[in-house]
Amino acid sequence: MTALSTSVKVAVIGAGAMGSGIAHVAARAGHTVYLYDMNAEAVARGKAGIEKDLRFLVGKGKLAEADCEATLGRVVPSSRIEDLADAGLLVEAIVENLEIKQTLFRQLEDLVSADAILATNTSSLSITALAAALARPAQLAGLHFFNPAPRMALVEIVSGLATDPAIAATLHDTAKAWGKVPVRATSTPGFIVNRVARPYYAEALRVLSERAGTPATLDAILRESCNFPMGPFELMDLIGHDVNYAVTRSVFDAYFGDKRFTPSLIQQELVLAGRLGRKSGQGFFDYREGAQKTQARTEPPAVAARSVTVCGDLGPAAALSARLERAGIALGHIEASAGAGELRIGKARLALSDGRSATRRAAEEGTPDLVLFDLARDYANTPRLALARADQCDEGAWHEVVGTLQAAGIAISRLDDVAGLLALRTVCMLTNEAADAVLQGIASAADIDTAMRYGTNYPEGPLAWAGHLGIGLVTRVLGNLREHYGEERYRLSPLLQRCAQRGGGLL
Ligand code: NAI
Repeated sequence: MTALSTSVKVAVIGAGAMGSGIAHVAARAGHTVYLYDMNAEAVARGKAGIEKDLRFLVGKGKLAEADCEATLGRVVPSSRIEDLADAGLLVEAIVENLEIKQTLFRQLEDLVSADAILATNTSSLSITALAAALARPAQLAGLHFFNPAPRMALVEIVSGLATDPAIAATLHDTAKAWGKVPVRATSTPGFIVNRVARPYYAEALRVLSERAGTPATLDAILRESCNFPMGPFELMDLIGHDVNYAVTRSVFDAYFGDKRFTPSLIQQELVLAGRLGRKSGQGFFDYREGAQKTQARTEPPAVAARSVTVCGDLGPAAALSARLERAGIALGHIEASAGAGELRIGKARLALSDGRSATRRAAEEGTPDLVLFDLARDYANTPRLALARADQCDEGAWHEVVGTLQAAGIAISRLDDVAGLLALRTVCMLTNEAADAVLQGIASAADIDTAMRYGTNYPEGPLAWAGHLGIGLVTRVLGNLREHYGEERYRLSPLLQRCAQRGGGLL
């Protein structure tokens, strides 16, 4: 263990949202923390914010009054940079601008001892570029907290080309000693979370752009079927479209225009209109006084079939047939000739999507009455499931499928016939991005999954999730999406391909 002793003083430069949160965390852990900002009012606001957060914890019975006072006593407001001279760890959380940060670090380097650690909370700038301006570039690393820092567990420890591995190790262990969950990453655009999470927004925006469902419906599908804590549209409204769009643009530009990170015109329109989300009162949803909350679309009640035939093995959706049986629907079983299993409901076939549209698959397989269902994390209990029907599918056949699933207590969201539906293509694309990040040595597979669980509160890391789904299914879905769109965006990560070929997982 190489965590910094609590006798080492910490300086936080920039007392805004992130800086004051980081100061809170370090002071709670027992360090004396200098809270510095070029704006004295920001320091006072930052300290007042820390006090408010601590008092809230006292009110909830989660912090003793004496600890609250002691923690506050350790936060030392400072408006003179010279005051920071005896700090052993300096965490920068100022404006996101390379030149301004470089100037600050050069100033700090001249001020502090040679072994002091310089850390930056940047979310998008290159650690290598920041360090290049320094006389001692080995002393600098990224210490990337998530907002709000006191509550979000994840910290990405980011090494640039010159970062001393011992400095990264100390920051890793110190973050752990502060009660955080640290992961290691190399300095590449977006580090882990801001890169791997891009498809969560991008796929939903793409499905929306094809008008396959409303934002409220798409949000409900990802939240209720897959336990994502927030749907992508409500999350973008919360983050602010200006911020979210800027991150997407910066990752896109930093990867030299890699098509996978292409920003969305829909989001650009919102930014241009000033509909930035909650903070401006309007985004995908309306937050203004008196506005009605938009509801997800759910299919009206339909009549269930009395019996269903399970044909072959439903794979990850196997629990669905048992759920129908529990709902009193008689089940018959037949062997499948080849390929994935399906349910036969009346004259309809109901199958898990494989990334082809229902219309294409119905045409290829010569059965018009085809309905596809989306991914759910737990088919035995999911309250909602998205379905898409082939254009050739008969209205009566569709209603019988809907009614049968409703009889098992599942709310049905109909999507227009979009390839890979929503949850399935989203999870496959998250996996694809995570696999590429492993392949490129940005972080270990385990750290990537940890980062996505603790930095975004996903119910499971994408790589572990893909392991449960089966890498074969994931690669099939991505291959079909690639064929469907003909776009490089859906190209398969070479690492996923390799895993599928050898029949193994990524963890
Ligand atoms: P903020 O705007 O709330 O606070 C920045 C503070 O830095 C302001 O109080 C400003 O007066 C001060 N400042 C600016 N230039 C300075 C200088 N040269 N010397 C001293 N103080 C200076 O910004 P926020 O949101 O706290 O972000 C800070 C950093 O953290 C940025 O690099 C940002 O990219 C990063 N970050 C932000 C996250 C977020 O969700 N807001 C999440 C993770 C990282």
